[in-house]
Amino acid sequence: MDPRTNPYAPGAGTQPPELTGRSELIEKADIAMERCRSGLSARGLVMVGLRGVGKTVLLSRLSQDAEAKGFAVLFVETPEKRSLPALLIPALRSTLLKLDRMTTAGLLVKKTLGVLGSFVEAMRFKYADVELSVQLDKQPGVADSGDLEHDLMELFVAVGQAVKEKNTALILFIDEIQYIKEDEFAALIMALHKCAQKQLPVLLIGAGLPQLVAQAGRAKSYAERLFEYPEIGPLSPEEAIKALQIPAERLQVYYEGKALSEIIRQTRAYPYFLQEWGKHCWDIAKKSPITFDDACFATDLAISELDASFFRVRFDRLTPAEKKYLRAMAELELQACRSGDIAHLLQREVQSVAPIRASLIGKGMIYSPSHGDTAFTVPLFGGYMKRVMPGGFAEGRSKGS
Ligand SMILES: Nc1ncnc2c1ncn2[C@@H]1O[C@H](COP(=O)(O)OP(=O)(O)OP(=O)(O)O)[C@@H](O)[C@H]1O
Ligand SMILES: [Mg+2]
Repeated sequence: MDPRTNPYAPGAGTQPPELTGRSELIEKADIAMERCRSGLSARGLVMVGLRGVGKTVLLSRLSQDAEAKGFAVLFVETPEKRSLPALLIPALRSTLLKLDRMTTAGLLVKKTLGVLGSFVEAMRFKYADVELSVQLDKQPGVADSGDLEHDLMELFVAVGQAVKEKNTALILFIDEIQYIKEDEFAALIMALHKCAQKQLPVLLIGAGLPQLVAQAGRAKSYAERLFEYPEIGPLSPEEAIKALQIPAERLQVYYEGKALSEIIRQTRAYPYFLQEWGKHCWDIAKKSPITFDDACFATDLAISELDASFFRVRFDRLTPAEKKYLRAMAELELQACRSGDIAHLLQREVQSVAPIRASLIGKGMIYSPSHGDTAFTVPLFGGYMKRVMPGGFAEGRSKGS
């Protein structure tokens, strides 16, 4: 059918034509935000899930809703190698400027911009990547000690008082939280904790890979009580069918039941893959309805495209030893593998492969669902490892290295 009208939207952070299966989480976030704005206790939400499950699109959706409801909103995505102050400063500045333009009267926002100015100066010495081309006034003696934990706390308290004066709440949307360094994450948690203690309306709604739950616990033990960690997973079969059907039916295109079952089987209802399969089915099918054969053909195309891009970019960032480790995991064909079994396959001691495992966790390729277990953060990655290293891990041969 005509690719010009293809409704599907595979990609990173690309809004799907129909966001299905997330209404409970949207409601949960809405309740937390409204409670926070009303000065009631509210726990932040840190949504965890594998690659491509829809964390970013859900966060964007929540931030748009929040903005429409008059919340002060800050949205940042943590890059792999950037300090937290460098990330937060420009975003906070623009949030404060927007807050200043709100019609409600108040004097604290201007003062808070001064606190931000002091924070920038103090952090500039410590973090090489902190830069702000505009000059801000300073509030000497506040948030300018140079100690991140202390200064961030003072900054957040000032921001909290300013948003409270404007009768709203600040919602911090932070994506890819697992890339925040542990001491910086600890400082962020501490600053949010201080706001909660002082009943200041500042709330974190974040997202990241599953390893971040352990990271938060290590950073500050009370992080468990400060946030909830809802899991975002694959869709249920019913919601996955809706994700495929609704956008097509808007354009009077239908699926055969067998085609839908086949797509769900192949994609295991992971949102990103559903968009990929939907897109290919649409392009392949001559006319409505989309048939089982169209779905099978779409599988071939989607897999070769994923192998060349989605999986490949991740594979290319791996060292030969890391590739072998992942290939051994694929060999075990389990949801979660015991570290000991992987080491055994590689004929190595668990301790000797521990640095490889740690570096793969650091790169966001694997995580530990429970102590001693290891699983892929990218759905269907095991199948890819087998295709790209058909010789297995023992020979160390690989097509892509
Ligand atoms: N609830 C949903 N229903 C249908 N499609 C969805 C849904 N959520 C996400 N998608 C689609 O899945 C793809 C991936 O979404 P997104 O980039 O938000 O995932 P992610 O979890 O942030 O991935 P990553 O960990 O790689 O950043 C996009 O193409 C998006 O349109
Ligand atoms: Mg994302």
